[in-house]
This record gives sequence, structure tokens and C-alpha cells, in this order.
Amino acid sequence: MNKGLSVAHRLVCLAGAALALSLAPHAAQAQAVSVAERVDTLLKQMTLQEKVGQLTQYSGKWTATGPVTFKGDQEDDIRHGRVGAMLNVLGAARTRAHQQVAMQSRLKIPLLFGQDVIHGYKTTFPIPLAEAATWDLARIEQSARIAATEAAASGIHWTFAPMVDIARDPRWGRVMEGAGEDTWLASRIATARVKGFQGTGLGALDSVMATAKHFAAYGAAVGGRDYNSVDMSPRQLLETYLPPFKAALDAGAASFMNAFNDVNGVPANGSAYLQRDILKGQWGFTGLVVSDWGSIGEMVQHGFVADDKAAARAAITAGSDLDMESNAYRQHLAELVTEGAVDLALVDDAVRRVLRKKFELGLFEDPYRYSNEAREKATLARPEHRQAARALAARSIVLLKHTPGVLPLSARHKTVAFVGPLVKAVKDNHGAWAVTLPDVDYSQFIVTQWSGLRQALPATTKLLYAQGCDVRCEHRRGFAQAVAAARQAEVVVVSVGEDAGMSGEAKSRSRIGLPGLQEDLIRALHATGKPVVVLVNAGRPLVFNWTAEHAHAIAYTWWLGSEAGNAIADVLTGAVNPAARLPMSFPRSEGQIPIYYNHLNTGRPPAGDAQGQFRSGYIDERVSPQYAFGHGLSYTRFAYGQLHLDRTQLRGLDTLTATVDITNTGAVAGEEVVQLYLRDPVASLVRPVQELRDFAKIALQPGETRTLRFVIGRDKLSFFNAALQWVAEPGEFEIMIGASSADIRLRGRFALIE
Ligand code: NOJ
Repeated sequence: MNKGLSVAHRLVCLAGAALALSLAPHAAQAQAVSVAERVDTLLKQMTLQEKVGQLTQYSGKWTATGPVTFKGDQEDDIRHGRVGAMLNVLGAARTRAHQQVAMQSRLKIPLLFGQDVIHGYKTTFPIPLAEAATWDLARIEQSARIAATEAAASGIHWTFAPMVDIARDPRWGRVMEGAGEDTWLASRIATARVKGFQGTGLGALDSVMATAKHFAAYGAAVGGRDYNSVDMSPRQLLETYLPPFKAALDAGAASFMNAFNDVNGVPANGSAYLQRDILKGQWGFTGLVVSDWGSIGEMVQHGFVADDKAAARAAITAGSDLDMESNAYRQHLAELVTEGAVDLALVDDAVRRVLRKKFELGLFEDPYRYSNEAREKATLARPEHRQAARALAARSIVLLKHTPGVLPLSARHKTVAFVGPLVKAVKDNHGAWAVTLPDVDYSQFIVTQWSGLRQALPATTKLLYAQGCDVRCEHRRGFAQAVAAARQAEVVVVSVGEDAGMSGEAKSRSRIGLPGLQEDLIRALHATGKPVVVLVNAGRPLVFNWTAEHAHAIAYTWWLGSEAGNAIADVLTGAVNPAARLPMSFPRSEGQIPIYYNHLNTGRPPAGDAQGQFRSGYIDERVSPQYAFGHGLSYTRFAYGQLHLDRTQLRGLDTLTATVDITNTGAVAGEEVVQLYLRDPVASLVRPVQELRDFAKIALQPGETRTLRFVIGRDKLSFFNAALQWVAEPGEFEIMIGASSADIRLRGRFALIE
């Protein structure tokens, strides 16, 4: 473990570096100095106990997002300056009441209220993985903007989002919370989300502090089992897992949350390498680092430290500023300082980081400025918020399969059967990590799939319902009724998948098929001979091979939030032409996991999906995914013209421009996501077979053509070499442009000359 003194020494050097970096615009500097001065003045007045108080975060009692351990008197602790921040205190009235207690403390330092505002606040947006499927950065930013506007009007200062963990394992329940498997796409989405949450900057009444989490590599848990350990090369950490964090930081993320997992044997909380060397050192992060719930104390369970006291010492030494709910700082930090086991400079640095944010939020001017019930009432779930949620939700739906002519539904359909366990589900449409406000009747607030479609279809179309089975689908008792409905209809829409509680934190699954007998229900419906449209609701990629082969159409609807029903109806009726693309590969079986498109080649690569003797592959499974990264269909078609490169050799800082014409050759307007992949075929380290390096989402009317230009420079060709240097190596490169990672339409080559 690192010794406190050497880290304190490092801190001094880093503070110098951060200062040099901040010698930028004059006004910003003047303001920074004044906040810094105010922080220092306050710090001088604080007792050690009060300092530790600023580093302590409690959960409120209305909802728990982790195992609650503190049994004491929270109010008394707040009144005596022993608490700096809270989470899970919802609403303007409650946050105000807590703040009033904090204002009775000796120094009247306001509380900071954090919350998991992950995909909306009162207006719930699609789960983040679904949003990522839009490949629409502007709309993703807007979703975070609206979430921030609502949360900030409800007394919240700080969201624990975005989660920017790269996830290549759909068994892991938290894939729903991120942006999928690709580092490049996830980095852009991280930027959009941070910008959305923080808006014009901290202190604006519609902005909340963003948190890049979970630092780091939480998504690489062995076996997809939540909280499990992570063993990874430093090169992979830098190249695949850290860039979205760096993107969030560059976008101005005010805070970082560390992680439950260990990385190469060191729990993230105790990792000076991650927090001091990389985050606060190389990257110059000046915001605050909050521990994940209880995770400082959990270093004891890890076997990294013997007890909570040693955990507190390890965490503060390694750079964890705020202790969320483990009570380790509250109980031991002051004593550690008094004994000389922890340098006071470490505590002061952490306290400064917390106080700075409170000043920037304007809480010292008015501790109640976010807790305004009138503004809360006027802001939450405004009609335009719901409209944006509906638009984004419809654009999150991925059309995985479509037999031309089956969709959209219209007045030509006289009878439609809408069956399955999720047709009339209510809360499930929110998915995991939705905020539950105590005074909202969600049965009225959420648009169910049934009511959405009923409203969207003309009154002349008869809509028949049968549940078939519930989500667990343990028996076939309701199948006959569903089949009877199907027989009377011209088309069957069946809504299946997970319930909301099957993905999210601690919701890893070892089998990721459709639950129970759901696929048998689809078979029974298919046996009627009627066209079958399958809606799959889930927080992760699922395996459904029979359905993939036999259904006439499949739309992946994830969990879409408050407007789920309307959004699904928009796509089913063609009011919105689907244009989402998968941000994760969909395996054919769990045995293929981890499966991701940007893998390395082997020395004996498979020959496509054909089984080959002495080739890399499986004897009982194909190698390719069921649905590839970037895949998604439309009700129209797009033609790709010729690929034109304005040069075939790049020198130094040259850039080249790749140009391609895209034409909508179908009969309806639609959007195409044109994806650009690169490959470095010969390098000092084996490189991925393809890597996303750009994309464009364009809307085209029938017959319309648009010329797209993609600019490629050194940065898109670079990687971390064996010495962990970010380099672009001279030689040939391949460029691939296509409609998905597996549907490459155009190929070219160019060379990088030294
Ligand atoms: C634990 C989760 O891992 C984290 O993402 C969340 O922000 C905290 N609990 C607080 O709810």
C-alpha cells in the first residue's frame, strides 16, 4: 500500500501542475481564485471533525440503493456538522428540510444532495443502453439536459451519472446503464451526457454535477458477475476502458465515482494508481471523487485491509475524497490524522474539493436555491419533456429483423392481436434505475404498450389482447387464449422479454435467454401461420435464436421510459421510421461471451462461420454474433456510392477525407447511420480487425442523395504500444464504410508515411 507521506508529496507537485494548466482565461482565473480563497478561509475555521464531516455522505431513508448500515441519528449528525452530503433525499421539500438542519450547524456549511438520476427524473427516458442505440448525440444530450432540469428543480445538486463503463459481457446486469461495448462511441456519448447534465455550468439552476462512474473497469467483471474482480493489462485499461472517463473529464465532469471492483488485485478505492496517478495526476482532475456505496469498508472483505480503520487510511491515501455510506471516514479518519497515520494535507485536499463544488453551485449564497417547490411543480414532467422522451424512445428501438410488408401496421389491418406478458406492464417500462417519486401514481403516468398502440391504430382496427403468460412464463396455461387471438387477426404482435428487475445492479444472469417458456409462446403463435412481430423488452442483449430465425419482424425495445407505449406505437405504425443501431453485439449463446466486434485476429482465424479444422472457433456454435455491433434496419433502403479518398498517403499531421454518396432508394423517408471503421493490418502489436472511428446519422427523403465526408488524421490511427505510448505507426491502413460492423459496403486503403 502507498504511504501517506509520499502521496502528500505527490499532491504538492500535482497541485502545481493543475495550477499551471489553469493559467488560462482571465475571468475564469479570477473567479477560480476567489472560490479558492473562500474555500481556504472556511477551511481554516474548521475543526478536524468538521472536515471529516464534509467527507461523509449518508443515504436518506426513503429509498435505499445499497445495504444501509448506519443506525444512528442522521439529523443529529447533520446538525453537528458530521455530514457533508446526502443521497436518496427526494424532492424540494425534503431537501429543504435537511438543509434547514445543516444550517443549524456551527459553520452552516450546506449539504450536497446527490441522486442516481440515470435516465430521467420524473419524466423517464429510455435506459442508457437504449439511448446509446440512437447514435444521436444531440438527443442524448437533450435527455440528460431535461433530467438535470427536473432534478435540479427538485433539490438535487448532483447526479451519479453517466456510467461510462465499457461492457462486453451481457450477463452483467449493468450493461443497461452504459453505452455498450465500443470505446469510441461510448466516449462521444459520455461527452454528450456530461454536457447535458451540466448545461451552461454549475451554479445554473437547471444544471447538476455529473459523475463519471465507475472508475475504473467495473464493466470487465470476470464472468459478468457484478462486483467481481477485474484482471486486465495496463494497455487494455488505457486503450479500451479509460477513454470514456477521459472524455467525461474533458467535457467538465464535476465528479468521479470509483468502483466496487479490484483492478489487478487493488480495489478501486485503494488504488493510488487510478485516482492519484492517472485521474488527479496525469489528467489534472480538480473535481471530487466519491466512493461507491460502502465500498471503502468493503476493502476489508476484499482482503486488502484488515479493518475499517485501515480501509479509511487506504482510501484517503489513494485519493477517494468522499465516503458514501461506509462510515469508515466518520469513525476513523480524525483518529488516523491525530495519530499521524494520515497526513492532514490529504484530508484538506479532499475537503477543498467538496467545498469548491458547494461554492460553485452557489449554495453558500443560498443553500435552498435548488429546493423551490413552486419551481419543482412547474418543471417536472412538462409536456415538452414528455415529447422529447417519446421522440428519443422511438429512436432507441432497433429493428433487428423485418420481412418487407409486415410492418408498419395501418388501417389495412382490420384485426391485430397484441399479446404477451409485457403488453400491459406498467412499471417495467421504466427499467432499472428509474427515480421513483413518492407522490406520483405511475400507473397513470406511464404509457403502457397497450394504450400506446390502441391510441395509434385507427378505431376501425380491432385490437385483441391475451397475456399468454407472465414474464417468468412457467406454464402454458394461457397459450391457448393467445393462439385464439392470433387466429382471428391478420398480424400478431407479441411483447416478451425481461421484467425491469432482471437487469441493473446485482442482476447478473448466467443464462440470458428469454425467460421461462416465452419462446414457446412465440412458437405457438408462429404455428398459426400469421405474421409474427416480436417486441423484445430487456436491459441487455438476450439470446433468442429460434425467434431470430422464424419471426417475421423483431424490434428490440429495451426499456423506454414514461413514453414507452407511444414510442413503440410510433415505430409499429411507421410514424417514426426505425433508425437505431446496436451498441453491443448480440451473442448466439452464452458460450460466445465475451463477444465484441473489435476483437484481435488469431493466428488461425475462423473462415467466416464455416467450421474449419484447426481454426479458431467452436465445434458446436458459429463464431459470428446473432446481431452485430452497429446493426439495425429501416423501413427504407440505402445505397452506398463509390468510396473516394482525396489522398492515399498521409504524412505528419496531414488528414485525408473519405467521401461517399448515400441515397435513400426506398419509398419512405428514413435515417441511416453510416459507420466508418479502420484497421491497422500490420503493427508492432496485433490490432483489432476493425475499430469504429467515425459515423454520421443522416435523414434522407425517398430518392434523396447526400455526400458524406469523413476526415481521418493521426489520432484515429493511434493506439497504445507496448511501452504504453500513444502512437500511430507508419504503414498501410484499411478503411471500411458500412451499415454495421458486419455489413461493410465499401473498402479502401491508404498509407501513413513517417
Ligand atoms: C451503487 C451503485 O454502484 C452506484 O452506481 C450508485 O450511484 C450508488 N449505489 C448510489 O446509489
